[in-house]
Amino acid sequence: MDLFEYQARDLFAKHGVPVLAGEVIDTPEAAREATERLGGRAVVKAQVKTGGRGKAGGVKLASDPEDAVAKAGAILGMDIKGHTVHRVMLAQTADIAEEYYVSFLLDRTNRTFLAMASVEGGVEIEEVAANNPEALAKIPVDAVEGVTEAKAREITEAARFPAEIADQVVDVLQRLWTVFVKEDALLVEVNPLVKTGDGRVVALDGKVSLDANAEFRQPEHAALEDTAAANPLEAAAKERGLNYVKLDGGSVGIIGNGAGLVMSTLDVVAYAGEAHGGVKPANFLDIGGGASAEVMANGLEIILGDPEVRSVFVNVFGGITACDAVANGIVQALELLKSKGEDVRKPLVVRLDGNNAELGRKILTDADHPLVEQVDTMDGAADRAAELAAK
Ligand SMILES: Nc1ncnc2c1ncn2[C@@H]1O[C@H](COP(=O)(O)OP(=O)(O)OP(=O)(O)O)[C@@H](O)[C@H]1O
Ligand SMILES: [Mg+2]
Repeated sequence: MDLFEYQARDLFAKHGVPVLAGEVIDTPEAAREATERLGGRAVVKAQVKTGGRGKAGGVKLASDPEDAVAKAGAILGMDIKGHTVHRVMLAQTADIAEEYYVSFLLDRTNRTFLAMASVEGGVEIEEVAANNPEALAKIPVDAVEGVTEAKAREITEAARFPAEIADQVVDVLQRLWTVFVKEDALLVEVNPLVKTGDGRVVALDGKVSLDANAEFRQPEHAALEDTAAANPLEAAAKERGLNYVKLDGGSVGIIGNGAGLVMSTLDVVAYAGEAHGGVKPANFLDIGGGASAEVMANGLEIILGDPEVRSVFVNVFGGITACDAVANGIVQALELLKSKGEDVRKPLVVRLDGNNAELGRKILTDADHPLVEQVDTMDGAADRAAELAAK
């Protein structure tokens, strides 16, 4: 989960990283008093989860409270790379002498954590990496040892930070590492980390990405989720413990058991869909190993709740949960949805294979539900589901 800048700033403050005071607002008028509280001047910063805000006009200096109202009014509602600005942060202004870059991230390719640092901050770090790679120090960080004072000093020296602020940078790096570890982050980035006119080191802009796999031990992180922006069906699925993903521009809903099968089902449907005018998957849902009636009902309810779905492909390979259990699940799920008053009208194409496939198919044949069709092969079923969606 990516955080907004103001949320990253809060986490930095929690772990003692020096940051500037700031206030988040969502109406231009609120900028007046907030700017007064910040000392009469402020930097108005768009809060969107994308980079390059400054270049897009989403970071502006306001010289007084009235100016802040005007600048907030200009930035609120702005579109930055497809992200609408709903909130701005008013931040205390810094007297910037120099801008640097520091980050910690998970380096999957090299199976380690990585520290990156440069005294050429403020600009896009990708540009530094491309045009002037020796200006970007990259130092692996051992997961067990972490960023000790010695490691922080190694990073500081490799990036050639000025000697007079080295101690401060060493301290900031250790604190940022604490953020990385204690908050279960995958990325902690500060760009720019600045030296002020009076020689203090401060984090002016932060980017933090949290590891969703650590949610279970980070109860406080739930509050950081941007629920307004979340897809409501994805949120409903998550609440029920289902893995549902919405896709753009498709019309076939896909339910399968197991991530591998679901992924290949997406490919097969997209391929079959070419013969039907470019029909594509609308979403997918992995019901996992235990496809009970309840899980199936929950899954179907979510998939059918997507208004873009015109047909559903249920692709199950019976394993520990045998096909007869899945078939019973489908039959009961349709009854359950009916009893809840949900009018299921979208056709279901079911392909059952694997453990107890014959018994499962018989259960569906006997149930004779008008919307359920069975096709024995995965390719055939994908083709039929695409055909029905194209109708
Ligand atoms: N509080 C502040 N006081 C003075 N100048 C600031 C302040 N915050 C940002 N700036 C200036 O604005 C520039 C851009 O700000 P910032 O890094 O927050 O946004 P950005 O880099 O455009 O956005 P992103 O990091 O999302 O690409 C900074 O490099 C800095 O020069
Ligand atoms: Mg920045």
